[in-house]
Amino acid sequence: MSIKNIRLEVMQFLEKNVDSFVEQYLIPVEKIWQPSDFLPNSEGENFFEEVKELREIAKELPYDFWVTLVGDTITEEALPTYESWLMDVEGIDQIENGGNGWSKWIRQWTGEENRHGDLLNKYLYLSGRVNMREIEMTTQHLINDGFDIGTGTDPYKNFVYTSFQELATYVSHNRVAQIAKKFGDNKLSKMCKMIAGDEMRHHHAYSEFVTRIFQVDPSEMMLAFQYMMKQKIVMPAHFLRESGQKISTAFEQFSDSAQRIGVYTANDYVDIMQKLINKWEVDKITNLTDEAEKARDYLMKLPARMARISERLVIPAEGHIFKWVEPARL
Ligand SMILES: [Fe+2]
Ligand SMILES: [Fe+2]
Repeated sequence: MSIKNIRLEVMQFLEKNVDSFVEQYLIPVEKIWQPSDFLPNSEGENFFEEVKELREIAKELPYDFWVTLVGDTITEEALPTYESWLMDVEGIDQIENGGNGWSKWIRQWTGEENRHGDLLNKYLYLSGRVNMREIEMTTQHLINDGFDIGTGTDPYKNFVYTSFQELATYVSHNRVAQIAKKFGDNKLSKMCKMIAGDEMRHHHAYSEFVTRIFQVDPSEMMLAFQYMMKQKIVMPAHFLRESGQKISTAFEQFSDSAQRIGVYTANDYVDIMQKLINKWEVDKITNLTDEAEKARDYLMKLPARMARISERLVIPAEGHIFKWVEPARL
């Protein structure tokens, strides 16, 4: 049987449990938080006072903070790219017979994710600290540009990617929450904490899918994991650009801002890799082919190797000035 057919079979096998995955890892619409739970109530009498207070507190937050929060928001807002990509993965089908179990998972995951961009976008709009039109143009560009995360339509590689990425977004939203709190912005801190909580749940789900694949197709799963780590996980916003600029030109500057303020660093990348290796107990997996044994050896040594490389990384002290955030306003 071809590798592609085996993957399809594995996906069909796991699909039998999709309902229990949805139940265990996602939250029903009526029970889950919504963006308006954390924003000034625009129907309320005190709306303008609440907005005023939000804007006063927002004045305390530094430049790199805004750049990072804007970049995180835009990343969340490019959700159409991620949903359409995942719907194309081998074994996930939204068309035939009204869609299979996996497409149901993807839709409900998308429904949860969609709240993140909504909440952050509304917060940024109310804050008065950022140029919304520039942000909106970047978002539209990013959706236009799509992305290429190097997974192809392979479900194994895609689930490695999502396991990694959900944890990476957990880390960054959680750090933003901590920094907001440090600057006395408890409401923004709470918003980012709530989002981070969702990301952690999603991480648990996707990494559980990988655990189960390791149980039935260990060698191929190991090779897919190695493949993804070898080529490195690209961030979903790697094509980021400002208005009037070429594709991808803003990504590194955004990522420098995130590193400088400590929201997401090269060390975090290595940490996440190590967490995945531990979670999947890569050292204990048996029944591997020779090639997969070699892949395991490679993976086990990789975090230490990457940590040495990241020590040498130098982040420029002076940041790029983005059209999204005018320094004069701060
Ligand atoms: Fe998200
Ligand atoms: Fe997520």
